[in-house]
Amino acid sequence: MRQTTSPNAIWQMVQVSRADRERMNGHQGTILWFTGLSGSGKSTLIHGVEKRLHDAGCRTCSLDGDNVRHGLCGDLGFSNQDRVENIRRIGEVAKLMLDAGLIVLCGFISPFKADRLRVRGLVAPEDFMEIYCHCSLEICEQRDVKGLYRKARAGLIPEFTGISSPYEPPESPELVLNTGEDSVEMCVAKVLEILGRPV
Ligand code: ADX
Repeated sequence: MRQTTSPNAIWQMVQVSRADRERMNGHQGTILWFTGLSGSGKSTLIHGVEKRLHDAGCRTCSLDGDNVRHGLCGDLGFSNQDRVENIRRIGEVAKLMLDAGLIVLCGFISPFKADRLRVRGLVAPEDFMEIYCHCSLEICEQRDVKGLYRKARAGLIPEFTGISSPYEPPESPELVLNTGEDSVEMCVAKVLEILGRPV
């Protein structure tokens, strides 16, 4: 992993704290971290949950694998090393957004346990909820919404998660969603429920 602290950068104190922002927002900030195979429903769910929260007057921000790889992480590929760096950067961004008092919805395959644990360790225990979008490889592959599994099976995409690159399921996530079987509405409702917001 790359160096993560710049030696001559001095931390500056802020005048507007997270608590000040949360008071203004009328709710606490938190990080909801959705992990799961490609096609397991992470993006659909983060956008579904975000819409419900936004409509209820919450301040949110979503970070989505494919979108982030168009900008912030556009220089990274899918080697193990690049995936580690991808999640490291996103974890730091999510932390900044948490400090801004937002409900941060992150949807990344984030296939490695150690990386997810590292992000969890950046913030207080109550500020991070890991949500496992559990969907079998068979179903993800059947759906193949982006046509990437077909390409991966044909050998056109190397190091594809679930096919030629590993996925390590979470051991004790705060929430498991059966995205292969349950409806989007049902999964969204479960997330809002653990957030304490049945909106
Ligand atoms: S992660 O492994 O580093 O967490 P991330 O969530 O950012 O992955 O990006 C995953 C998305 O990139 C997938 O949903 C898929 O659309 C696309 N993708 C392209 N190549 C690959 C690959 N080799 N493995 C997995 N996803 C890939």
